[in-house]
Amino acid sequence: MSASVIPAGAGDTSSTELKEHTTIVVLGASGDLAKKKTFPALFGLHRNNYLPKDCKIVGYARTKMDHEEFIKRVKSNIKTPTKPIEEQLVTFVDKCIYVSGQYDQDESFQNLENTLQKIEAGRPNNHRIFYMALPPSVFISVSQHLKKNNYPKNGIVRLIVEKPFGKDLDSSRKLQKALEPDWTEEEIYRIDHYLGKEMVKNLLILRFGNEFFGATWNRHHISNVQITFKEPFGTEGRGGYFDEFGIIRDVMQNHLIQLLTIIAMERPLSFSAEDIRDEKVRVLRAMPQIATENVIIGQYGKSEDGSKPAYLDDDTVPKGSRCPTFCAVAMFIKNERWDGVPFILKAGKALNEQKAEIRIQFKDVTSGIFKDIPRNELVIRVQPDEAVYIKMNSKLPGLSTQTVLTDLDLTYKRRFSDLKIPEAYESLILDAIKGDHSNFVRDDELDASWRIFSPLLHYLDENPEVVPMSYPYGSRGPPVLDDFTSSYGYKFNDQVGYQWPVQSTELPHKL
Ligand code: BG6
Repeated sequence: MSASVIPAGAGDTSSTELKEHTTIVVLGASGDLAKKKTFPALFGLHRNNYLPKDCKIVGYARTKMDHEEFIKRVKSNIKTPTKPIEEQLVTFVDKCIYVSGQYDQDESFQNLENTLQKIEAGRPNNHRIFYMALPPSVFISVSQHLKKNNYPKNGIVRLIVEKPFGKDLDSSRKLQKALEPDWTEEEIYRIDHYLGKEMVKNLLILRFGNEFFGATWNRHHISNVQITFKEPFGTEGRGGYFDEFGIIRDVMQNHLIQLLTIIAMERPLSFSAEDIRDEKVRVLRAMPQIATENVIIGQYGKSEDGSKPAYLDDDTVPKGSRCPTFCAVAMFIKNERWDGVPFILKAGKALNEQKAEIRIQFKDVTSGIFKDIPRNELVIRVQPDEAVYIKMNSKLPGLSTQTVLTDLDLTYKRRFSDLKIPEAYESLILDAIKGDHSNFVRDDELDASWRIFSPLLHYLDENPEVVPMSYPYGSRGPPVLDDFTSSYGYKFNDQVGYQWPVQSTELPHKL
C-alpha cells in the first residue's frame, strides 16, 4: 500500500514532544474511567514504544490499597492474547506506582510530591502530565492543590481533563474561571474522546484532500446532514450520574457537536491546532441557539417483550425522572455555505443497535429522465466497522434498462485488513505527550457550544410539563422520529434489496 504523508504543519509543531524525563499522574486511579480507558490506553502506548523513555505512571486516588491490589486494577481491562503481549504487560506494570490521598488536603498532595521527587531524582527535567479521571465535584479542588503542591519547577506540565465541563454556559464559565489563575490554555488538554476516533481523525483528510467532495460540499447540493449516536444498552448502574446530565449533555453537546463542526468548517489555513480550532469556533458562532420546536426528547420504557427494564426501573435513577435518554434536534448554520441545510443530531440509549455515523444526503437529481430515483448519500461510519460509502445509482448489469441503488464502499476491515485501529484514548494521550492540541477542545469552543444548547437545557429543566416521549428499550426511538427527520427534508430510501453492506438486485427502478 502506498501512502502520502500529511505535510509539515500537521499537528501543533510549536509544542514540545515529551520524549523523556516524564511522569504521568492519573488522578482518580481507582475509578472506572481509569480502569476501562486510561490504563489500557497507556499500555497500548507502552507496547508500541510511544511512552516517553523512562516514563513512570503514578496512580492517585482516595481508595486505600496496596501495590498488588492497584496492579490488579490496572491489569483488569487489559487483554494479553499472546505471550509477547503478556511480557509487555509485565514491563508496563513495573512503571506503575500507587499513592493514596485525599482530593482536598495539602498533606496528601505533598505526599504525592515526595513520590514524584523520588522518581525524578537525578533527572535534569521533571515533566509531568496530570490526567484528571475525576468526578466534577472534586475537579477544582484537585487542580488547585496540584498547582500549589505539584507544579514542576523545571519541566513542562500538561493537565488532561475529562468532561463534564460544566452543565450549561454559566457553570462551564465558572469552571473555566477557576482553572484560569493556575493553568494556561496551552497547559490544558480537554478530552472529547470522539476526537481521537480513527474515522473522526480522517474527516479533515476526506473533506479537504478530495476535490470531488469539496465541489459539492454546500447548500446547493446537500439537502440535509444527519449525525447519529445509538447505543443498544441503557444506563445500567450509571443512572445516578446519567440522570444529572441526560443525553443532550452526555453525548450531544460534546461528541456530536464536534462531528458537526468538523463536517461544516471551512478549510483551515494549515493543520496546526489553532488554525483548525479557529475554523471550528467560527461554525459554532454562526449557529443560532436551538429552538425548542426543532427538538424531540424521549425516555426508554421496558422492552416490548418485557425482558429489559425501563429507565425508571433503574434503582439509581430518581423516581419520576424526566431525564431524556433520547434526543433528536435540527440545527442550522447561518453562513453562506450552509444556510437552510438542517443538521439533524440524534442520540439515544437503549436503542436497537450500536452505531455512530454521519449521513450526508444530497439533493434530488434534476427530474425528467428519471422518476423517483434515490438520492445520493455519503455515509461516514465512525463505529463499529469504520467505513465510508457513497450510495449511488447505477444501471442494473444485463440486458435490462433499469437502475439499481448501489454504493462505492471503503470498508476499513476489508481495505486496511492488516492495520490495527488504535483506541481513541491511546491516540489522544499520545497527542498530549506530543503537545498537539488539534484534537482537544479549546475554551472558546466549549463556550460557543454551551451557548447554543443552554436555553434548550434550561427550558427542559425548568418546565415540569415537558415530558419525554416513551420508546421501548431496543427500538429505533420514539415513533415520531421518522416524521421528524422527514420534516427536515430527509428522504428515506427504501429500495428493496439494498442495505449496506448487502446488495441484492430485487425490484430495481425502471429508467
Ligand atoms: C461517553 C458518555 O462520553 O461516551 C457515555 O458519557 C457513552 O454515556 C460514551 O456511552 C460513548 O463512547 P463510545 O466511545 O463507546 O462511543
